Amino acid sequence: TVIIVDFGGQYNQLIARRVRENNVYSEVVPYGRALEEIKAKRPKGIIFTGGPASVYEEGAPTVDREVFGLGIPVLGICYGAQLMAHLLGGRVVPPVAREYGRVRIQSNGGLMAKVVREGTSWMSHGDQIEAIPEGFSVTATSNTCPVAAMENAAAGLYAVQFHPEVQHTAFGRELLHAFLYDVCGCTGDWTSAGFVERAVAAVRAEVGEERRVLCALSGGVDSTVAAVLVHRAIGDRLTCIFVDHGLLRKDEGDQVMDTLTREFDLNVIRVNARELFLGKLAGVTEPEAKRKVIGEEFIRVFDAEAAKLGKMDYLLQGTIYPDVIESGAGDAAVIKSHHNVGGLPEDVQFKLLEPLRLLFKDEVRSAGRELGLPEHIVNRQPFPGPGLAIRCLGEVTEEKLAIVRESDAILREEIARAKLDRAIWQYFTVLPNIRSVGVMGDSRTYSHAVAIRAVTSVDGMTSDWARIPYEVLEKISSRIVNEVPGVNRVVYDVTTKPPATIEWE
Ligand code: XMP
Repeated sequence: TVIIVDFGGQYNQLIARRVRENNVYSEVVPYGRALEEIKAKRPKGIIFTGGPASVYEEGAPTVDREVFGLGIPVLGICYGAQLMAHLLGGRVVPPVAREYGRVRIQSNGGLMAKVVREGTSWMSHGDQIEAIPEGFSVTATSNTCPVAAMENAAAGLYAVQFHPEVQHTAFGRELLHAFLYDVCGCTGDWTSAGFVERAVAAVRAEVGEERRVLCALSGGVDSTVAAVLVHRAIGDRLTCIFVDHGLLRKDEGDQVMDTLTREFDLNVIRVNARELFLGKLAGVTEPEAKRKVIGEEFIRVFDAEAAKLGKMDYLLQGTIYPDVIESGAGDAAVIKSHHNVGGLPEDVQFKLLEPLRLLFKDEVRSAGRELGLPEHIVNRQPFPGPGLAIRCLGEVTEEKLAIVRESDAILREEIARAKLDRAIWQYFTVLPNIRSVGVMGDSRTYSHAVAIRAVTSVDGMTSDWARIPYEVLEKISSRIVNEVPGVNRVVYDVTTKPPATIEWE
């Protein structure tokens, strides 16, 4: 294990992912609890993250100096580097010039010299280290930064002003690898095979030989991987309920059922509630009202079905690590878990089972592959719980749903054919509920316009519109107007988030 001490920087999750990409398990811990966790877990290494503060600010995040005396190597990044210098008697000052973006650095010794002589790093900082603490030596410099890196190898302490975790730091990968393997002596035992094996054993130990588990299966990557994993651990004592609200993408419900029941032999109850949901949605036009109707109906249907099954001991959730980190770890995770199934009733009778709570999304996908799930499930793009209902603007009707479902299927087919499905984070069609005039054959038409939304993103919090080549757009547009009845126009949404959101509702 490597413990990442979180000082509030924007790249903290990225550092944890980079460490794990090196097959080393990492955990992100808030700075206030860091020393306690480090003493309890005795990690092989510690990484201090960046952060927005200045070490001299009142109440600036810090750790007890004791952390440097535990015999565990520490790598400080950006604010973490400044804090290390500050706590050990060096001097940190406001910069002569703020450095932001790509900065050339030269190495001149130590760990830095092993991975690079001269190279491009990514910097983003206010303060910088002016004088290094006793026992340290400077191992890299840039034009404006006299201490781009420093170390005290005998004490196992390393610090870098730049961000090795971002792609723009060309040698960042090598540096992290050298720190983890050469300095910390990590062995690289964090693999998806290892994870699956341990997780299956842990679920068996937790659930025991008798107890039963209930799962709300959505068809998304997380709940599907969680279900298959738990099934491997306890077999038929897992029951999944798949509430098909009729708002899924084309063929999606059938595909999930097919894979899970036929190939994996899971016990899945599919509730066909399409008409029920459409009925409840009739006349509802306001986006949040639509979400609320769907969320409440989902719970009602799920509860009614669960009640038929007799006593269940656990509720399986596909909670993943970013949710856990964002909720501050600990108890808050439970609240978020509830949110995952749309808000369970207050008096839940189950204990929660969350076997993926330590995994990042890419690790969930790897675990899914390890468990033998097909690529079309493992690589499924994010999909909102309320489904196509929030992509039919205004009132949802069967006719409008059909247009979204069919145009979306064409879009997905063409994106896959152009081999863009991995590069684009999320792509779908929207029915803006606008009709416009067109001409087909010799007659005037007055039909729906369909919008294409395709974005690149890391976590859905911000996004840019995807630069789909014109030829691909042309193909998609011409297929949609020709193949989907009731559509005579296709437009492309070219807005970033913010100020827009990814979905239209
Ligand atoms: P927005 O539209 O807020 O979407 O930019 C960000 C990401 O979240 C998904 N999304 C939802 N997921 N329930 C969900 O489970 C929802 O109500 C919901 N609304 C948006 C969206 O697809 C995108 O990936």
